[in-house]
Amino acid sequence: ANLIVVDRSGQEHVIEAANGWSVMEAIRDNGIDELLALCGGCCSCATCHVYVDETQNARFAAMTDDENDLLDSSDYRKTNSRLSCQLIVDGTPEIIRLSIAPED
Ligand code: FES
Repeated sequence: ANLIVVDRSGQEHVIEAANGWSVMEAIRDNGIDELLALCGGCCSCATCHVYVDETQNARFAAMTDDENDLLDSSDYRKTNSRLSCQLIVDGTPEIIRLSIAPED
């Protein structure tokens, strides 16, 4: 799937994400270095926080209690907040739009 990622400066990046990869991995592999992703995708650090376009949140699996708890620790949580390491890209051709949340 293709992703449109809006970075913290407001710049848009169109990137390719292989099926089965997490959005966090795709963002990092495409040279956008704003996600610390300190835990490497284990859902324990909350430094991979993104906002998913409101109309596209249903594209991804519902969040777990762990993800929900971690997002609660952020000062920047919104209704469309997700941890990008928990968002797995599938083969749907639709472009997914998301933006990187401010650093806590
Ligand atoms: Fe740590 Fe996503 S990379 S929670």
